[in-house]
Amino acid sequence: MSLHDIAARALHAFDPEDAHGLAIRGLKLGLGPRDGGPDDPILAVKLAGLELPNCVGLAAGFDKNAEVPDAMLAAGFGFVEAGTVTPQAQAGNPRPRLFRLTQDQAVINRMGFNNDGLDPFARRLSARRGKGGVVGANIGANKDASDRIEDYATGLTRLWGLSDYFTVNISSPNTPGLRALQTKAALEDLLGRLSEAREAMKVTTGRDYPIFLKVAPDLEDGEVEAIVETVVGAGLDGIIVSNTTIARPDNLKSAQAAESGGLSGAPLLDASTAVLARFHAAAADRVTLIGAGGVASGVGAYAKIRAGARAVQLYSALVYGGPGLVTRIKRDLAARLRADGFTAVEDAVGAR
Ligand code: FNR
Repeated sequence: MSLHDIAARALHAFDPEDAHGLAIRGLKLGLGPRDGGPDDPILAVKLAGLELPNCVGLAAGFDKNAEVPDAMLAAGFGFVEAGTVTPQAQAGNPRPRLFRLTQDQAVINRMGFNNDGLDPFARRLSARRGKGGVVGANIGANKDASDRIEDYATGLTRLWGLSDYFTVNISSPNTPGLRALQTKAALEDLLGRLSEAREAMKVTTGRDYPIFLKVAPDLEDGEVEAIVETVVGAGLDGIIVSNTTIARPDNLKSAQAAESGGLSGAPLLDASTAVLARFHAAAADRVTLIGAGGVASGVGAYAKIRAGARAVQLYSALVYGGPGLVTRIKRDLAARLRADGFTAVEDAVGAR
């Protein structure tokens, strides 16, 4: 076991949110792990025009304020999604709001978009300009915004030129009413206004960036198809499937399972991969898919790719696997691809 893995275990002695704060502080001080790199070329992938050295990304919520993207790239992630950031700083829900379900290798959170707001986020991205590595911005709306759609457009406009891609997060269960933006009429309105903002920024700056929509795993029949058509119609580039779930599988063992909020980690793997496969069936090759939910090993990452993802993201497994996890997942995924005769991730996408 590496020193980093021992440190990661020691963090479990702390309240989960304090432990996360300590991890961020350690990463800011340069104490994070370093992946040996360079990546195995079999893991490289082109994602909506972005050249990723490997297809394993850090999901949103770990680095809400864009404080440690470079430390996480150095740890071996092929791309890092910072945020969710909202235009104004907000405190989020009262603590405790983050729970470890250790027996289930899972997490429940009801953070409620606690973050420092767009200004410091933009300043930090600006300070790392030219450093290389793919860093995206996950944008959201303030809880008390009078016009939530306007908040997304504000995030897009403010971070244009500072972030390599955007994720429109309408799937957090912890901002009341937010997920209603996934219904067809609301989504058409949201994506229509974001497309206008995007066109305006393209004209002003001569540059364009991919935009992804991040969805919940808890979708009714028909909703998947409606979301795909709306995303295609609005010219968005891809869909991240998925955010945390409000479902509570019967087999959860931890006492904390009764906490309200979004569940992530191991119990989300199969459910989110099944929803991903539904998106793949509905989208064919019209939109790029990114798989998130319960990835903790090469097996999980490979399952997402075969269900239709070109890249995967993870967060919860870091809590249990420690920082050496990314390197292990990449090694295992590369071996699995080769064992099945693939020479590139792209060849395995959707190859169920
Ligand atoms: C998250 N997630 C998340 N997603 C998002 O789009 N914006 C956010 O701010 C957050 N915040 C957040 C906080 C915490 C504590 C957790 C555990 C998760 C969701 C995350 O990005 C991911 O979609 C899910 O957690 C599923 O992946 P894992 O964690 O099972 O690998």
